[in-house]
Amino acid sequence: MNKPIYLALDFPTWEQTNDFLQKNNLEGIPVKVGMELFYREGPDVIKKLQAQNHSIFLDLKLHDIPTTIYKSMRNLAELGVDFVNVHGLGGADMIKAAKQGLVDGTPHGKSQPKLLVVTILTSMNQDTLTNQLGIPHPLAEMVTHFSKMGKDQGADGVVCSAHEAAKIKSVCGDDFLTVTPGIRLADTNSNDQQRVATPKLAKQIGADYLVIGRSITEAENPKQIYEQALKECNNVNK
Ligand code: C5P
Repeated sequence: MNKPIYLALDFPTWEQTNDFLQKNNLEGIPVKVGMELFYREGPDVIKKLQAQNHSIFLDLKLHDIPTTIYKSMRNLAELGVDFVNVHGLGGADMIKAAKQGLVDGTPHGKSQPKLLVVTILTSMNQDTLTNQLGIPHPLAEMVTHFSKMGKDQGADGVVCSAHEAAKIKSVCGDDFLTVTPGIRLADTNSNDQQRVATPKLAKQIGADYLVIGRSITEAENPKQIYEQALKECNNVNK
């Protein structure tokens, strides 16, 4: 795995996304498409990125009743992306339905998108959990709980903070994937992310894939920062 970083394409339009990728010579790198871009451009944006050889994490964080999730995942499975995801807060039946949708919707001969469970968003902390959501349990326990529940229902991995990756691997096994946003290069602003780590630390403590957005997209030289982060990751022997 020599390209373990998915660049978060948090841009409002395809035009801005494409300008950014072309201007910075980032064609063909793995990318993450989230709600902002997908809700504007629809599935076409996936096809356009694939035509430029990007592999894709489609980060729509689905959360609904199991039937709706099953049907939605059956549709998304046709897009040929690497990863899709659901919120762990949707519960075991919803995760199971998501997986079944992927199984049933993936065209013959195509690889099935991997299903990730969002544990607790990396913008949240214990205070958010306890005082806003009314969940009294320690955040770390909830992360492990959602991971285990996801694994039991057939998910392939989780989206979590790098700081939780090692614990998740110890509970769910080394093959259970950990994809970690909340990554900051050593000298950049953490913005609204609470549980941050550098690329090197994230890989050292058990992240399989990293998601990086603003540290790269808002950098003066995005390509240089991307290469630097990639080098940091690839120098870590797991
Ligand atoms: O700009 P930054 O590196 O903070 O971007 C993080 C990206 O990862 C955003 O696109 C955000 O939606 C996503 N993400 C996250 N926390 C999660 C799951 C996804 O920040 N738990």
